[in-house]
Amino acid sequence: MRTAFLLNGTPVETEAHATETLLDWLRRRGLTGTKEGCNEGDCGACTVMVTDAATGPRALNACILFLPQLHGKAVRTVEGLSGPDGAPHPAQTAMVAHHGSQCGFCTPGFVVAMAAAHARGRTDHDDQLAGNLCRCTGYAPILRAARAIEDSPRPAWLAEDSAAVDADPPFFLGEILSGGEAAKPPRGADSPPACVLPESADALADWYAAHPEATLVAGATDVGLWVTKQLRDLGPVAFLHRCRDLQRIEETETEIRIGAGVTIERLRTAMEPRHPAFAEILRRYGSEQVRAAATIGGNIANGSPIGDGPPPLIALGATLHLRKGAARRSLPLEDFFLDYARQDRAPGEFVEAVSIPRQPDRLFAWKVSKRFDQDISALCGAFDLALEDGRVAAARIAFGGMAGVPKRARAVEAALLGQPFTEAGVAAADAAWAEDFQPISDMRASAGYRLAVARNLLLRAVHAHAGRPAHVLEVAP
Ligand SMILES: Cc1cc2nc3c(=O)[nH]c(=O)nc-3n(C[C@H](O)[C@H](O)[C@H](O)COP(=O)(O)OP(=O)(O)OC[C@H]3O[C@@H](n4cnc5c(N)ncnc54)[C@H](O)[C@@H]3O)c2cc1C
Ligand code: FES
Ligand code: FES
Repeated sequence: MRTAFLLNGTPVETEAHATETLLDWLRRRGLTGTKEGCNEGDCGACTVMVTDAATGPRALNACILFLPQLHGKAVRTVEGLSGPDGAPHPAQTAMVAHHGSQCGFCTPGFVVAMAAAHARGRTDHDDQLAGNLCRCTGYAPILRAARAIEDSPRPAWLAEDSAAVDADPPFFLGEILSGGEAAKPPRGADSPPACVLPESADALADWYAAHPEATLVAGATDVGLWVTKQLRDLGPVAFLHRCRDLQRIEETETEIRIGAGVTIERLRTAMEPRHPAFAEILRRYGSEQVRAAATIGGNIANGSPIGDGPPPLIALGATLHLRKGAARRSLPLEDFFLDYARQDRAPGEFVEAVSIPRQPDRLFAWKVSKRFDQDISALCGAFDLALEDGRVAAARIAFGGMAGVPKRARAVEAALLGQPFTEAGVAAADAAWAEDFQPISDMRASAGYRLAVARNLLLRAVHAHAGRPAHVLEVAP
């Protein structure tokens, strides 16, 4: 399909296959500064800066970014970070000054991630760079370089990307279309559309109801791997990222409604003041590059038993909103997950939004994984507990990683009712854990570990509620 975007300040137009990745396309074009390390979003060697009108500049992984996702946006690779006169970006200068590079393989990715963080004024460097792996320099000099540019002004040539995409439509799209040189004739009327970019939920609903066999692509942080690792042919594809109405977070007196297209990073920011424990889980979701692409709709729809979004949402009493054509239905989020790899979603039906009731924050939630950053959960537990006179008056508890689906701990919830919220009180639920969960042993954790940790997370909630240090980074040896 025809895709037009700004590449290092120059408009380009390409007739690309719907699932060609930006990384492959760049390297075929000779822009080999963007490296291929893992080809699955884990290492950050392929980091590029993408600017669009809705979100501003973001670091994204080019290896799991399909070309149609770039239409109307501005892309900067490491080759385009320096100014037109060759002046290096402050991040490039600082990496040299602070000896942040040895073999140099990871360096373009780090520099671009640093430049994107700098453009956004972010100084939480550990989080901003957690998606970039370096195997030889070590992180201290790299972090020193990131700190060194905090007060440097943003280079004017990068600000031009924002100005270009902020116009509606972006000015360079008009330029390219009027030139028309690379534009291809439209497909024949009866040939099936291989790829569409609907502009609204209504347009998506109509098209998907008529093409229920199609693959929906939101952030492509799962679907990208189906292509790069499993070499799957996706058939007809609908990209969801231009449906702005799916990207809204709307708050009423009674609920917060989160559109399916809201990215994990935007959800994290929205949850920070409302449910900080949920926001903290999302801070450890993948990396900055993954959070900037992945959507909550994709995280729910993929039905993963170890997705980090569903457990806190279920504990908060979330309702899922599905749509097929003009027909809409809503159900409790936990009821959507029927069994491993099986969800209550009909062909042609998609996730439109998820909503949570507005409520006082009483959520405890933790992700347990082998690495602190950029790792998939071994398990993820969320506890929404109402206490009256020190006793549990209501409980909603949900876990990922304990069953084939994200699942509520109903027996534990029932056993806790009326119990004092103390170490001794929650021991009343000890036998109930095995009633709720028969976890599996796999490479992330054994079944026994999972059961023990789930129980211990409840104890952790007791200690956190009592104001004792319970965070893994707070507990002194
Ligand atoms: C490096 C890396 C790290 C990761 N770390 C984490 C992590 O820490 N925690 C975690 O939970 N996940 C993690 N993931 C998994 C992934 O980010 C999530 O599952 C993600 O939320 C998927 O969202 P997406 O928008 O990218 O979905 P996509 O990849 O675009 O789609 C995923 C699935 O959902 C479907 N879909 C998308 N949107 C809709 C919709 N609106 N309606 C119906 N179906 C839809 C697609 O057809 C597809 O089946 C990681 C992935 C990578 C590559
Ligand atoms: S190549 Fe490793 S994240 Fe893209
Ligand atoms: S400098 Fe060699 S991998 Fe980072």
